[in-house]
Amino acid sequence: MAISPFSHLATKLFHGLDPESAHEAAIESLALGLGPTAPKDLPALSTRCMGLRFPNPIGLAAGFDKNARAVMGLARMGFGHVECGTVTPRPQDGNPKPRLFRLSEDAAIINRMGFNGCGIDSFVRRLERFRGLQASRSARWRAVPVGANLGINKTGAQPLEDYPYLVSRVSTLADYITINLSSPNTPGLRDLQSASSLGDILNAIGRNNATVPPLLVKLAPDLDPQSLPDIVEAAVEGGASG
Ligand SMILES: Cc1cc2nc3c(=O)[nH]c(=O)nc-3n(C[C@H](O)[C@H](O)[C@H](O)COP(=O)(O)O)c2cc1C
Repeated sequence: MAISPFSHLATKLFHGLDPESAHEAAIESLALGLGPTAPKDLPALSTRCMGLRFPNPIGLAAGFDKNARAVMGLARMGFGHVECGTVTPRPQDGNPKPRLFRLSEDAAIINRMGFNGCGIDSFVRRLERFRGLQASRSARWRAVPVGANLGINKTGAQPLEDYPYLVSRVSTLADYITINLSSPNTPGLRDLQSASSLGDILNAIGRNNATVPPLLVKLAPDLDPQSLPDIVEAAVEGGASG
């Protein structure tokens, strides 16, 4: 995509804000329809995976649009998929600020947000609105898979009930679902990555949901490689697609 003078200006403006305010402003702008519009996708970049068609292989990971506020704008700007969330059963504030930091030398950011978000009720209402809009504008809509990334609250979590419940809330709205067990910022979450815990969670999801879109399991990048084969086997046996 060509970088317009407007994009340069927007980048400068965003960098004048602290990282979290810049993030908020970006989401707000996209929700208002102020984002860029990508040119048509090159057909050669399209790919099929999990029964879904991805117009290109570069998607937006979870954590940017945690509350599903800007799905249309993000799709319009050219991502190959948009993953919303992480969403938790109940709203929560997340960790105290500051919790998002620019690493300018590395052109990167680091975060310890702690699953701040609006909770599943508002998330579902927004996805419903988005799907309604999408249906009414289907001719102009750039079709991309929309994923829902699910997590648990910091306090009062019951993973074997929470994940099946969250899946039931989004299963008709999301093209795929990610079970997020990867965050270091929710105490105990990563313990659920053990093969036995993961198997229990996926079985509970299957028992409580007659139909489920493709399920992905999001694991921490720094797991002990020796534990991976058992975890992957549990994921596959539990019906995960990836
Ligand atoms: C500010 C920020 C917030 C994030 N929040 C979430 C989140 O809520 N859920 C999640 O599964 N991953 C979250 N992530 C992780 C990203 O989804 C992604 O896995 C990670 O950034 C690695 O991809 P990258 O190398 O393309 O950045 C977050 C990342 C960042 C930088």
